[in-house]
Amino acid sequence: MKYLVTILIVLAVLIAGAFLYAWSGLYNMAASKPHWNLTSSFIEMVRDRSIETHSQDIQRPGAGGTELKDTFFSHYHGMCRLCHGAPGYRPEEFAMGLYPKPPEMTSGEIQTEFNQVEIYWIVEHGLKLTGMPAFGPSHDEEDLWGLAALARAMPGMSPEQYNQRVQRAGPHAGSGQSHEEPEGESGSGRHGEGETEGHGET
Ligand code: HEC
Repeated sequence: MKYLVTILIVLAVLIAGAFLYAWSGLYNMAASKPHWNLTSSFIEMVRDRSIETHSQDIQRPGAGGTELKDTFFSHYHGMCRLCHGAPGYRPEEFAMGLYPKPPEMTSGEIQTEFNQVEIYWIVEHGLKLTGMPAFGPSHDEEDLWGLAALARAMPGMSPEQYNQRVQRAGPHAGSGQSHEEPEGESGSGRHGEGETEGHGET
């Protein structure tokens, strides 16, 4: 009984201490200050296990599901590329300042770590506190599977193949969203340069 009371008191002090520290404002929330290695490993474990667990009952669509349509390229180019880059495109400057930094889609890193169903789940639901948005609320299932399949195919794709498909898709395609123009003269409105970085033809 005495031990139990001691344990409870120690626990209460620890919880109160943790709360006080959190409340004090001393924790540095800055994206420019990385976590300790131990904290990063812990967060990665939570993330990876969560993705595995939540995606395990999802069924991949049948044979036709992985055909890469032009509209998927248009979606990717308008949204994902800004953070994750694409063949011939570096991520935008703002993406370099995100913490955690979005991994580059062409590097093969994402594809070795996550299978297609897991990527589908990530794209549909996003990842809390990372800057990775949920695209489920704005895109239908076909587009989400298409984006997952395209993400998987990206490391083997040349800039020419990629650009050809983006251009073929035209300025606007898909489920009622209006993504910016892929490459046209007027399309680069938002950033001017940087838009075609790493890729010659405009
Ligand atoms: C605003 C920036 C941003 C946009 C836009 C964005 N992502 Fe992400 N994404 C991130 C960040 C940041 C992470 C890293 C999360 C982490 O490390 O846990 C991430 C992680 C991922 C991952 C998991 C890889 C990993 O190592 O965590 C996949 C897959 C992914 N994104 C796919 C996409 C796709 C496909 C799109 C477009 C439909 C997209 N993302 C759009 C920021 C973005």
